[in-house]
Order: sequence, then C-alpha cells, then structure tokens
Amino acid sequence: MIQHARLDPLVLKEDFPILYTTMNGKPLTFLDSAASSQKPMQVINAIEKYYKEEHANIHRGVYYLSQKATEQYESCRIKIADFIGAKCAKVVIFTRNATESINLVAQTWGRQNIGRGDIIVLNEMEHHSNLVPWHMLASEKKARLKFIPLTNDYTLDLSNLDEIVNHQVKLVAISQMSNVTGTIHEIEPVIKKAHEVGAKVLVDGAQAASHLNIDVNESDIDFYVFSAHKMLGPTGVGVLYGKEQLLEHFPPWMGGGDMIAEVYKDRSTYADLPARLEAGTPNISGVIAFSHAIDYLKKVGMRSIHNHEQELTEYTIQKLQELGGITIYATSQKDVRSGIVSFNVEGVHAHDVGSILDEEGIAIRVGHHCCQPLMKKLEIAGTCRASFYLYNTLDDVDRLIDGLKKVKEIFKRVIKR
Ligand code: ALA
Repeated sequence: MIQHARLDPLVLKEDFPILYTTMNGKPLTFLDSAASSQKPMQVINAIEKYYKEEHANIHRGVYYLSQKATEQYESCRIKIADFIGAKCAKVVIFTRNATESINLVAQTWGRQNIGRGDIIVLNEMEHHSNLVPWHMLASEKKARLKFIPLTNDYTLDLSNLDEIVNHQVKLVAISQMSNVTGTIHEIEPVIKKAHEVGAKVLVDGAQAASHLNIDVNESDIDFYVFSAHKMLGPTGVGVLYGKEQLLEHFPPWMGGGDMIAEVYKDRSTYADLPARLEAGTPNISGVIAFSHAIDYLKKVGMRSIHNHEQELTEYTIQKLQELGGITIYATSQKDVRSGIVSFNVEGVHAHDVGSILDEEGIAIRVGHHCCQPLMKKLEIAGTCRASFYLYNTLDDVDRLIDGLKKVKEIFKRVIKR
C-alpha cells in the first residue's frame, strides 16, 4: 500500500502571510477556503516577478520578453494538462473561472447539440454555476432538465439512474463535490451510464480539483471545469478541459484577437485549438501564478491534502456534536466526506452566527452558498459553512467551537430577556 506523508499544516501555514494577520483585532482563523483559498508566497512572488521583470503580451511579439511570456504561459498549459491527466496540452482552455468554462460549453457545444425535447441531467445539490447556464440553454432550445435526487444521507440517490439517464439525455452535467454538504459524489456509474446512452458528461470540479487527484482520461470525462482561485491560484483564471474530438468541433465563442487564422473585411477564419477558444489578451500573470500553485499542490500531494481535510472534518463534526444544539448537514459515510462542514445553530440565524464569529476573527461563509434549490429541498434559508484547506489546524476548529459557544451564550441571554 502506498503511504502518503502526513502534511504539517503549521509548516505550510508559514507560506501564507494573510493567515498571520488579524480580523477585528483577533488573529485570523480562515475557514472559507471553499469560497476561495488563500495564496502562498510562491504564488504571490510569481505575480510580482512577472510584472517586475517579465511582462509583455503573448503570442504577438518577436522580441525576447514577449517570447518568454508566451513560453511561460504555454508551459503552464502543459503542466495543467499533466495535473489532470489530459492527453495533450491543446485540450486545456484557459477561461476566467469554472463558471465561464461551463457557459462556454453551454453556448458552443450545447447550442449545437442540444435541441427541443432533449434532456440535460444535473443533481439536486448543484450550485448556480452548474445550473443557471443550463436553465438558459434549456429555455432557448426548449430542452428539459432532470435531476439525480439527494438521499436523506446527503449523497446522490443512484437507485433510479437507468430511468433518469435515458436515450433522450444529451448531457449529464454533474458536480464532483458539493460545496454545501462536502459530499464527494460517486460520478463513475453516472459517467458509465451516460456514455451507454450516447450522452456526454461535464464534470464540475470547482470544489473537487483543489482536494482530489483527477485523471480525466482514466475517468473518461468529456468536459472538466475548475477555477484556479480555489486551489491556491489567483482569481480570474479557470480551465475547461475537453476531449479533443469534441473541442475540435466547438465553434468559436468570443471573437477577437488571437482566435483567428485570417481576417478579411467581411469574414474571418479561425485558429486551431486552443487559441480558437481564447479570444483577446488573457490573464497571463494569473496563468503563470497558477502553475506555481500547481507545483505547490503537487509537492504537498493531493492525497495528503485530502487525508488532512478529512481529519479536520471528522474532528469538527465530533466537536459540533459534543456542543449540542447544532444541525449538521453531512453524510454519515466518512470516506466520501471532504473538507466542508455545513451546520446551523438551532434557533439562531446563520447570518447572526457569521457576524458573531467575525468579531472573534473567524471567517466562515453563511447563507445559501449559491445553492438555492438545495436550500429549498432542505427547507432552510441557509447554513453556516466551515471549509478547510491544507493550512488549517485542529486549533482552528477549536477556535470555531469556542466562537459557537459564545454564539449560544449570547442567544441564551437574548432569549431569556
Ligand atoms: N462556489 C463558491 C462557494 O461555494 C463561491 O463559496
């Protein structure tokens, strides 16, 4: 059996200067990495170095700086292809974020391949990024959406998969991990079933890519999307991976510089992949910095990161249960839990919990987490969500629990009055 080194969050934390700052006069306890992770010095330095010493536009200059910037940008594409197990670099398309990647697929492949009466299958835990683009496409094309339901244990109910994924289904667009419950979904049987009926599969890795080993090729995923900012990289960089035989037929999406072959006064012809889908000057510094984030993740090891987060999650759930008066929205299946714990303090609005914790220097996300349909299904307005990454410690969880004790204390007094 392969042994995965245990990571030391206190050592890693030293690379993240923001984690040594204060919030409201208290040492910062950052528990909102599912919204956006913090950045290590290696990534921050890469951005600074690029702008201080290396900046020029890419794909356009014959001079040294431009060629160097182009070389760096394109070598990031190779690194990212390798990170996700893609067969070649040209199937890695840079976008602004996972949301843009999904919209790109919806508005190109989707418009060409989804028609009246066709079905797009999603799941009941999808966040708005993997829902609203399909609403828009379905409404334009008179297509229909169907949902893989949620079990009472916050996992996907695959018992009716054969019925849900039938021959009318053209696309299954499914998140790999829920940003609310933290469940890592069982996507393999869904991919297999989709392919049996001739449907394509888009896997939304917005949450998963920062925590799990991905191999798009081995998993036979048609489209895979994720955002750099949730995985130690900068904001404004996303990735769309697609199988080459699919991306090759994508029509151009946005028109402009860099995506063309020839332009005449009255018409244009278009470049090959990946340029055809990357119009205009991209986020060059962001992509370069992202490759440093990938180096960092690889050095720590995705399996070690995942093991660490599972340990923090176990500990948090145990402490919340001991505290009492807390509703936890997590699956009982420990092996499919990741570094996210959603909960509510009974009788206290999630926003009040978030505000009191904020005063204690503890940052969590509260609200519907861009998952309104899931909130409606659970019949709640929102949750409190603590989410972890490689720099979080058991001590951070203890601070959260102390903060929640304070919340309960304050509300006990309010209720008594
Ligand atoms: N999808 C992000 C979150 O879950 C923004 O917080």
